[in-house]
Order: sequence, then C-alpha cells, then structure tokens
Amino acid sequence: MSTASLKIVNVCQSCGFRSPKWLGRCPGCGEWNSFLEESDRPVPRLAASPPALGYAEIENQEITRIKTHNPEFDGVLGGGIVPGSLVLLGGEPGIGKSTLLLQIAESLSRRGLKVLYVAGEESAQQIKLRGDRLGVRGLHLFLAAETCLERIFQEAARLKPAVLVVDSIQTAYTEKLDSIPGSISQIRECAAQFLSFSKRENVPVFLIGHITKDGALAGPKALEHIVDCVLYFEGERHQNQKIIRAVKNRFGPANELGVFEMSGQGLLCVENPSRLFLSERPESASGSVVLCALEGSRPLLVELQALVSQSTYSTARRMSNGVDPNRVSLLLAMLEKRLGLHLLGSDVYVNVAGGLSLTEPAVDLAIVAAILSSFQNRPLPPKTVVFGEVGLGGEIRAVNVAHTRVKEAQAMGFETVVLPAGNLPLAEPVKRLRLKGMASVADYLRELD
Ligand code: TYD
Ligand code: MG
Repeated sequence: MSTASLKIVNVCQSCGFRSPKWLGRCPGCGEWNSFLEESDRPVPRLAASPPALGYAEIENQEITRIKTHNPEFDGVLGGGIVPGSLVLLGGEPGIGKSTLLLQIAESLSRRGLKVLYVAGEESAQQIKLRGDRLGVRGLHLFLAAETCLERIFQEAARLKPAVLVVDSIQTAYTEKLDSIPGSISQIRECAAQFLSFSKRENVPVFLIGHITKDGALAGPKALEHIVDCVLYFEGERHQNQKIIRAVKNRFGPANELGVFEMSGQGLLCVENPSRLFLSERPESASGSVVLCALEGSRPLLVELQALVSQSTYSTARRMSNGVDPNRVSLLLAMLEKRLGLHLLGSDVYVNVAGGLSLTEPAVDLAIVAAILSSFQNRPLPPKTVVFGEVGLGGEIRAVNVAHTRVKEAQAMGFETVVLPAGNLPLAEPVKRLRLKGMASVADYLRELD
C-alpha cells in the first residue's frame, strides 16, 4: 500500500488522543508539543473471540505460578509469574529495569526454564558484559538483538521459550505500521500482538518501558489498560534503594511493593525494608517522624520529614515529595483553622525519606506531627511511631489493619505508638508497647505538652 493512500492523523504521544490537525497542546491530557503525525492504517483484527459462555459453565482455573525465587519480585507479582500473563515493567531510564529482568531471566534459567531476552537497545555483547558482572551463567538464556516484531515472533516460534522478555517496547516495531518505533501507534500495536502471543502460547511476556516522571516519555503509560500487570520503579535514579510497585495486577493485589538495593552485583532483595528506610534517620531531630504505612499487604516503617521555616517570599512556598501536595495543603489549612497555628507566613517542605511514595490516608497524622514538630522546634519522643487519618474537622479517624502496623513497630524496637483512638482496642493485645489513642489533633497537641 502506498503512503499516499493513507490518511494522516496526529496522535498525542502522551495519551493517544487523535486529531486530524496538528495541535500545540493536547486537549486530552494537556501535554504540550506531544503530537506526531502517524498514518491511520486500520490495525488488523486479532483472532475472533469465542462465543459467550454462561457464568455457571465457566470453570475455575487453578493458576500455577512460575516462581523466580527472587522473593521481592515474586511478591510484587502476587506470588510468582502467571503463565500467559503480559507484564509491563516501567521506570526512568537507568533505574535498573534491564538489570532486574536479566537477573530474573538468570534465576529462571537456573531452574531449567528457557528464557528469550529480546534486546532492542543494547547489543548481545553489551548484555553479556553486564551479565558477567551479575554472575549470569545463562545455561537456558537466549539473547536476540532484534526490534522487528515479526522476527521476534519467528525466534520465539523457533526457540519456544518459557518466558519472553522484551527490552524495550519503545524499540519494537511491526512492519504492518508505517509509524516510527516508539510512537504511540507502534507501542500499542506491538503490545496488542504480545498480548495475543502470551495468551495463545501461554507464555508470560515482560515488556520493559521507559517512562519519565515529567511525562516526557509517557508512551508505555498508554498500555496500562492492555496489560495484565503494571510494575513501576519508584524513586530516584541515583538512590541505591529501588522500589517497585504493582500499580495494577489482574492476578494479585495491587499496590504491592518490592524493595531492592542496587549493588555491584545488581539488585539485591531487601528482606527488612523498614530497617533500610530508617537506617539514616537522625535521632531526636525536630520535624522527623516515623510512621507505619501499609502499602500493599506489607507494613513499612518510614521516616517522614517536615521543615517549617519563616518565609522570605511574598507567598509562602509549599513543597512535598512522596506525599500528595494537595493533602499537605489541606492539612495545613486544617491546622490553621482548628488549632489556630499561624502557618501562612511559613514555607513548608515535606519529604518521605527513601524515595517512597505514600498514598494511603494513615500518613495524615504523621504529616501533622512532623509539621508541628518542626514548627515548634520540638523533636518527638524517641522510639515513637505515628499513624492515623485526619479529617477536616481535625478529627483523627481509624485506619485499616492497625494491629499489623503496631506489630511492625514492635518488631522494629519502637516503644510508643500514637494512633487513632477508634483503632483501640486492637484485634489482639500487644505487649511491652505503649499505645496512645488520639481522637483529634487538639488531643495530640495536648499530649505533647
Ligand atoms: P539499567 O538496568 O541498564 O537501567 P534501565 O534498563 O532501567 O535503563 O541500569 C541501571 C543502573 O544500575 C546503571 O546506571 C548501572 C547500575 N548498575 C549497578 O549499580 N550495579 C550493577 O550490578 C548493574 C548491572 C548496574
Ligand atoms: Mg535498559
């Protein structure tokens, strides 16, 4: 087919919005300069769908997961790799995606499973160089420096691997489309083909995707709804601790975390993340609070820091890292109104140590405690853990699985836990630990005096 006969559309490379005209700003996602011309060739239909089944006729399928014997990776997937699943592993360039999947490929290979690692970004020699550093023997590991989808499938048909790794989805392209590799159309079409391959052959496929925080490389985000499982690396590239979060998982709990540490021998599993996250905590510094967050099924002790200082700007600065800035603004407004604190003229910075992002409401009380501690320049009593949701009225609300959080605090040698009064009594008594139930932030402030 000649290109002249094809209709040209402009596609937003950030969200996939299509427009006949080039636009400076995408009406879909608000991104600037994200439109790229692509030819609008209809994507060929995949295999016909089977007829509808009655609900009662559908048999339950027992899933036998493939264990990688990497506890953090198995854990974040919900207990191992599900056969026939399509998994997207996203993260900033240089954060450790290729390293991790090469290590996983090696541990599968050591168990006699054949792995085909398709490398579109590096040559086989480069990967071998890295593999040697990682102690890869690769007895059942095959490397293909290939980017053409059709040839990748040819290799897969020849080798019949038990697991396929594609590094990266941005470099893969299908000959069926004219658009350049890395464009939204190519990414989507290739992912759809990998999806049907994984289901048809019952082979799990891992797609690596580069994503940057500012959305400059957001292409793979458009795949979230196609794939079975989305894993994202969190945190900063230069940090040694690397966190992977299951943002979506059709076969397991979402929000599960895997914690790794980058070393000279690649990514090592962190058995005790709480210890890692607290390792560099300054003792008895004002503005530093330890909270117990529950991300996924796992309780994590993390340090949250706040810095409140007299502002030299006409409007005070508010910045937060690892917690939602809107949540911080809301809690600041609540502190002004309910406790009469004058924070309007203060700059407020909030940071979660270790590059972790905390999304659950139990973080609220720790934010409040850290801000109060920095504002009053008064450290919290030593060996104290804080958690609880805070409402706009200043009330402290009960959070889920308080007992698990308290147990983690105890296991890590803490002596006092400040928690919502509504969470007491706990499901099971906990010995040798002081529990301080609080009903409101006013209660909490009185407790400090
Ligand atoms: P890489 O896995 O190539 O990142 P990505 O595929 O996400 O772009 O590399 C991650 C970084 O880790 C790279 O800067 C080099 C570093 N690294 C180590 O510190 N130790 C190691 O054993 C390896 C293999 C890499
Ligand atoms: Mg890479």
